[in-house]
Amino acid sequence: MRLMITGGAGFIGSTLVRLALRQGHEVTVLDKVTYAASDRTLADLSEHGAFRFERADITDAPAVERCIFRHRPDAIFHLAAETHVDRSIEAPRRFLDTNVTGTVTLLDSALRYWEDCNRPRDFRFIHVSTDEVFGTLGPDGCFTEESPYSPRSPYAASKAAADHFARAWGVTYGLPVNVTNCSNNYGPFQHPEKLIPRMIVGALLGQPLPIYGDGQQRRDWLFVEDHADALMRVLARGAPGRTYAIGGGYECPNLNLVTLLCEQLDERYPEAAPHARLIRHVADRRGHDRRYAIDGSRIRTELGWVPRTGISEGIARTIDWYLGNVDWWRPLALREPAALPQRGAA
Ligand SMILES: NC(=O)c1ccc[n+]([C@@H]2O[C@H](COP(=O)([O-])OP(=O)(O)OC[C@H]3O[C@@H](n4cnc5c(N)ncnc54)[C@H](O)[C@@H]3O)[C@@H](O)[C@H]2O)c1
Repeated sequence: MRLMITGGAGFIGSTLVRLALRQGHEVTVLDKVTYAASDRTLADLSEHGAFRFERADITDAPAVERCIFRHRPDAIFHLAAETHVDRSIEAPRRFLDTNVTGTVTLLDSALRYWEDCNRPRDFRFIHVSTDEVFGTLGPDGCFTEESPYSPRSPYAASKAAADHFARAWGVTYGLPVNVTNCSNNYGPFQHPEKLIPRMIVGALLGQPLPIYGDGQQRRDWLFVEDHADALMRVLARGAPGRTYAIGGGYECPNLNLVTLLCEQLDERYPEAAPHARLIRHVADRRGHDRRYAIDGSRIRTELGWVPRTGISEGIARTIDWYLGNVDWWRPLALREPAALPQRGAA
């Protein structure tokens, strides 16, 4: 198939690009390459015969329309977004522009293109979203596809609005849309401002490891390659209009996760052990959600997807990747050095 992947230079997008190419698809990435992305992420694919790159902003309607009509995708995966909750608290407007206006711009062009192609039934617009749109959980229970929306951060609110627009384009205009709501991802190529790489990079540099509040905020962690696999399954077998909640099934408090990271770093660098001595509790994030967890029964039973990577293996692979790719993360970490020591959780 010919696939277009917006945000394909980012963390999850680039993982999806590699999986799609391995599966024999043609891939066009549409990405603005913001501060969150690196030119190096996809550099090794520049000579790949089935790979194209378009540097464009999803809020730029003429550019988006040109890209879609030029590359004529059979499916669009929409991942381009502003993604860091802390930045959304500091500067919410950009989240409205990219995540909401950008999504509507893309939906608009996708619809025009789909109608121009005589509305093929097997076209797909897969809108990639987050479990954060559902708000925060109490001590029990999990989010499902039926959970009510209750976003609590500007990031979550912008993703929630985008989800509603994507579904509205499905119901109102018939565009074959899927929405996916996934839990926290981790793995290679994640920007060092996010929790896990932030802690790995900070520990390697001997910096304090800031943990928001008591560190008991619980997240459901998924290795990024498993998320990419789930998205390809939604494309292959998902019913049009259907939503899929995607989770790792590994729920743990942030403090325990950081302790696990420190233990794995101790094994690799015993001379700097214990890395946990670098942990510092800092003032909690405003409006910090306490708990997210996903009930992934639907995607498991309908599409046969299960996460394959256990947390110890996933964390080990992630640490080893950051150890072996200093040239990738150092420029991103140094671009805003002041941002690193203060920021905590994902
Ligand atoms: N990371 C997670 O844990 C997670 C979990 C669930 C869902 N998601 C969703 O998955 C998607 C990808 O997340 P990620 O973690 O890979 O994000 P990321 O920040 O690593 O990548 C985002 C990408 O979007 C691009 N982008 C940003 N603004 C753009 C614009 N205006 N025009 C074109 N491109 C633009 C950036 O250059 C970057 O390549 C997002 O929609 C996010 O909401 C992420």
